Amino acid sequence: MRIVETKAELRNLLAPSRRAGESVGFVPTMGYLHEGHAALVRRARAENAIVVVSIFVNPMQFGPGEDYARYPRDPERDAALLERLGVDVLFLPGVEEMYGSEGAAQVRVDPGPLGTKLCGAFRPGHFVGVATVVSKLFHLVEPTRAYFGLKDAQQVAIVRRMVEDLDFPVEIVGVPTVREADGLALSSRNVYLTPEERRRATALYRSLEAAWAELLRGERRAEKLTAVARRVLAEADISPEYVSLVTYPALEDVEELPEGPPFGEEYLLALAARVGAARLIDNLIFART
Ligand code: PAJ
Repeated sequence: MRIVETKAELRNLLAPSRRAGESVGFVPTMGYLHEGHAALVRRARAENAIVVVSIFVNPMQFGPGEDYARYPRDPERDAALLERLGVDVLFLPGVEEMYGSEGAAQVRVDPGPLGTKLCGAFRPGHFVGVATVVSKLFHLVEPTRAYFGLKDAQQVAIVRRMVEDLDFPVEIVGVPTVREADGLALSSRNVYLTPEERRRATALYRSLEAAWAELLRGERRAEKLTAVARRVLAEADISPEYVSLVTYPALEDVEELPEGPPFGEEYLLALAARVGAARLIDNLIFART
């Protein structure tokens, strides 16, 4: 595995593969890697000749007062894991290499209405930062396929829409959420949890499962389904930022699900909640994947 820290080295390293027409699979990350990231890398490894992973904690996607400064970092452990997974190139740029001395891009990618819903309503500018850095990384790597986790379902919807609207020649692959045995979705931010918070955090997935069970019992009203999820969260002393049922990937509000399943359309039941110092998200996507 080659580790490169500059855009120029990255381009030089990938030029021969590009000339030879080899497929390039790309997994963008912010590091502190876990089995969720590993699932994306394994999929990329299985489907492409060359696999590129980036680790860059992108300051542009963190708001003031968010966890940019204390976001967990361990590039050496990450590199060892990626080496074992058979990655060809690890791109590990610093902030100045990515954005120059100003530390941010002046020209930004506006993700449109998808960027202001769900998490976007609570993290203004977050998805502008994501769309901007992902488009920069796509220009640098020029991947054939790029891999994103469905744990961040809104991020996947925005990246897909960006690729469509701005004509990036890349295929976006969404990978199912990897969970702990007790259902908690893996996240780099889980390290912020104390043991007691870690136990309470299992309520996130349990709340989604409870809503799903209610749906299987025939409830179709969004308000009732989200209320079931909220109740499970409340029992664990968690007050969510949002619990929403929307269409996927359009993210439009749903009042009542049609008769089914199958529904012939995809839906997203998504939530975000603070547990101690961690802001956690989770979701279920249902009707076809
Ligand atoms: P990061 O949070 O490091 O996540 C990198 C990728 O791993 C994302 O596509 C995310 O959805 C995926 N991922 C995280 N936890 C997962 C899990 N439990 N199961 C499956 N996939 C999981 O998302 C980002 O970084 C950044 O916003 C980025 C796209 C790199 C742009 O800065």
